[in-house]
Amino acid sequence: MLLIVSNKTDLATDYLIIRLHERGIPFLRINTEDYLSLWDVCFSIGKNGTNVAIRKEGQESLPVGTFIGAYIRQPKIPDLDIIDCDKEFAKREIGETLKSLWRAIDENVWLNAPHRLLRASNKPEQLTIANSIGFNIPDTYIGVNYENIKNFYKKHSGEVIAKAVKHGFDFNGDKARVAATQKIDEATLISLKDYASIPMIFQNYITKEHDIRVIVVGGKAFATAIDSQSHEETKIDWRLSDCYKIPLKQYEVSLPKKIKKLCIDITKRYNLRYSAIDLVLGKDGAHYFLELNPNGQWAWIEQLNIHKIRDAIIDELLFSRG
Ligand SMILES: Nc1ncnc2c1ncn2[C@@H]1O[C@H](COP(=O)(O)OP(=O)(O)OP(=O)(O)O)[C@@H](O)[C@H]1O
Ligand SMILES: [Mg+2]
Repeated sequence: MLLIVSNKTDLATDYLIIRLHERGIPFLRINTEDYLSLWDVCFSIGKNGTNVAIRKEGQESLPVGTFIGAYIRQPKIPDLDIIDCDKEFAKREIGETLKSLWRAIDENVWLNAPHRLLRASNKPEQLTIANSIGFNIPDTYIGVNYENIKNFYKKHSGEVIAKAVKHGFDFNGDKARVAATQKIDEATLISLKDYASIPMIFQNYITKEHDIRVIVVGGKAFATAIDSQSHEETKIDWRLSDCYKIPLKQYEVSLPKKIKKLCIDITKRYNLRYSAIDLVLGKDGAHYFLELNPNGQWAWIEQLNIHKIRDAIIDELLFSRG
């Protein structure tokens, strides 16, 4: 039996569930917003050890040891119908109880264990590790010091981009905004004097052949080229293709052996069984590591019929190492 943890609106999870049905694999899906209304979890901790079980409405209670594989994507805290002054307290208690459930499941049963997701999510550290294991990375400065930014800009003859330290998406209620990667010009540089109170990542601008998303599942790596350079609007940041409604060509691409191995190695280094890695192929013929998304999106790659990611994830879940 597999455990699938997500939220009610995650399309990638829905898509995975369809494949589980097609393959006849038994699973229990819990959406975290439904905790307390449609399912709950009980912990009995005593002389006989610890027993943790999930009970979904209308179903038998399942001890967590039943699950041979557990998948998690974007859990959300339920929006409780209680007075505001108690909400923060209640949310914290719920968050901690859910965390206790995640911890009650062997970390090797998870793809990926939630605490490992958290551990792997820091871009400056990723760049440091990528650099140390042999990836090419863009030269990087992170900070707010105007003199340093100016010197970095000069060092790279004005060929510099700025991007977010955490990630380039900002959710305000239901509205999503993209803090796109931007190329810095002289005027922007001068304006940073006033507003560089927010730290940013500055890197030398890599002139690209194309972007690449690599999905690593266990020991496999599936690479997809994204033809970001055929449109002016998407040359710097291909994610703007959604805003401009420009469908970009995407296709399977093979990676040099060394780069493929590095993708698998950095995923293992973080003790992950899944990752979505952003690379670019430079005009100079070199592959550059940009970042690793430990729970990054994969569904669109399968919807475009480029790679069979769902089967790889399911096979990896069935081959749990717990
Ligand atoms: N140094 C760089 N040179 C050229 N393009 C870059 C550079 N860094 C990022 N980009 C471009 O910006 C876009 C987003 O890249 P990246 O994944 O590094 O950004 P991010 O803000 O870290 O993304 P996320 O929101 O996924 O965390 C891609 O189109 C990528 O090619
Ligand atoms: Mg990215």
